[in-house]
Amino acid sequence: MKRPAALTTIARKTKLRRRAIKAAHKLGLPAPMPPEWHRAAVGGMWEEIGQFQFDFLVSEGLAPEHYLLDVGCGSLRGGVHFVKYLEAGHYFGLDHNPRLLDAGRSELERAGIADKRPVLLADDNFRLVRFAQSFDFALAQSLFTHLPFNQIARCVAEIDRVLKPGGRFYATLFANPGPRLRTDTFPVRVDRPLDINLDKDPFYYDPDIFRWLCEGSDLSFDYRGDWGHPRYQHMMVFTKQGA
Ligand SMILES: C[S@@+](CC[C@H](N)C(=O)[O-])C[C@H]1O[C@@H](n2cnc3c(N)ncnc32)[C@H](O)[C@@H]1O
Repeated sequence: MKRPAALTTIARKTKLRRRAIKAAHKLGLPAPMPPEWHRAAVGGMWEEIGQFQFDFLVSEGLAPEHYLLDVGCGSLRGGVHFVKYLEAGHYFGLDHNPRLLDAGRSELERAGIADKRPVLLADDNFRLVRFAQSFDFALAQSLFTHLPFNQIARCVAEIDRVLKPGGRFYATLFANPGPRLRTDTFPVRVDRPLDINLDKDPFYYDPDIFRWLCEGSDLSFDYRGDWGHPRYQHMMVFTKQGA
């Protein structure tokens, strides 16, 4: 039976990629990445989730003159929309993976908006004060779903230092529907099978733990819950007092 043309093309590309990886290995270079790897690496659904987070923040009052911090910005799935919309120099993105940030820079080139002076920083300990900027809005889209709680606590504490009075930090999570002391792994309803866990990535959390985290601080906490996210992540908002 004749092999369909599409399969032949895939086989040829796979062979070429294997050859390229071998050649790079011989030369002691990092393996070449497949095209668009950086879109898959942040979870895919590039257009849909990029546009979704942008539309949401605009509906929450994000205006072009605001300063926005995108924590765990990855390859700028949301970033390309924010950079286009905000005034030049008002978008700040942090990620611990410098290769994703480089891929994000290529996305900005591709979109013709690299001249809008976004500030991108690779940092693995949420040292947000390195930006030397305070923010009206901050976002962590699909970040806390990958982090153990003490890293989240550090991230929230560092964000508290750089939010303007009245500034708001929006973060998504997989919510534990209860009971609170459950330990099992269970599936979340998504377009692809995905199990979420108490103590390994991807994590679920009881939203009340974030309320507790803010007690006695200058952050107030609001659990928004379902906001129509295509992968069933929920939304919470931390607001800095004193506007
Ligand atoms: C699922 S991706 C989401 C990226 C982006 N927010 C988006 O919506 O496209 C999670 C991102 O968090 C980043 N990340 C994970 N742990 C991190 C950490 N400790 N510090 C900074 N970034 C981190 C990953 O490198 C990745 O880019």
